[in-house]
Amino acid sequence: MQQRVRTAVFPVAGLGTRFLPATKAMPKEMLTVVDRPLIQYAVDEAREAGIEHFVFVTGRNKGVIEDHFDRQYELEHTLQSRGKLDVLEELWRDLPIAGQTSFTRQQEPLGLGHAVWCARELVGNQPFALLLPDMVFRARPGVLRQMMDAYDETGGNVIGVEEVDPKEVSSYGIVGRGTGADGAFAITSMVEKPRPEDAPSNLFISGRYILQPEIFGILNSQTRGAGGEIQLTDAMQTLIRSQPFTGVKYQGKVYDCGSKLGFLTANVAFALDRDDLAEDFRSEILRILNKTVG
Ligand code: G1P
Repeated sequence: MQQRVRTAVFPVAGLGTRFLPATKAMPKEMLTVVDRPLIQYAVDEAREAGIEHFVFVTGRNKGVIEDHFDRQYELEHTLQSRGKLDVLEELWRDLPIAGQTSFTRQQEPLGLGHAVWCARELVGNQPFALLLPDMVFRARPGVLRQMMDAYDETGGNVIGVEEVDPKEVSSYGIVGRGTGADGAFAITSMVEKPRPEDAPSNLFISGRYILQPEIFGILNSQTRGAGGEIQLTDAMQTLIRSQPFTGVKYQGKVYDCGSKLGFLTANVAFALDRDDLAEDFRSEILRILNKTVG
């Protein structure tokens, strides 16, 4: 029996420079895919996987995220008096239970490894999930749920991976694949943003992790890696010498909403999934495409 994963960490301190000016005063995690903020998708996914403690590593200008996961009495009162009870119930459904959220700050943008390290006191000595909110998945069940199922069998550390065009490996962390099926295979190595000729495979780390707390001890003294940042991947590459890492090539697809193309594509894909929008949206898209082509 593995130690249960109850806590999830959400690094949300990034500056969002790729989405300026939209992200000048607003956190990038509040950008919406259709009508839900990116951070809400990540929290929903964590909750579906059984997470009960949501740890946000924030930074300056990120207060709105904290407000988003709070009650809003004035708004709720207005919705109630207008009889919009379905909207109200949906807002309540999206909220973690009182006392389930914690917030800490990454005071300097030193990289993902440093952001994770900032959560060490809140996580404590237990395994935890890590979800990068830029990465939004169309997957059923959710990707973290699929990874938890693998974790129940394997324990140790688990990383969600997906195939990427070999030309794009240098944008991501890449894993080396050992023995085992897609649903749970041994990871042999991990490298952050390799040149295509150095990549051990085309399986990329798509922003979902289950990690053992020993990663914090390694991050204590992790030196800067790719891009001059303290890289989580480098710390994991150290941890793999003493603990197993399992890769899960999950069922589903990631949209990298940290890039404009991924973000726009996610909006189209998620809108086409929605019963209240799909039909009209499809005709509008076709109209635009026909005009452009014709
Ligand atoms: C981070 C990780 C990288 C991972 C990526 C997924 O990189 O370091 O291993 O593949 O997230 O989005 P970043 O996007 O912060 O450069």
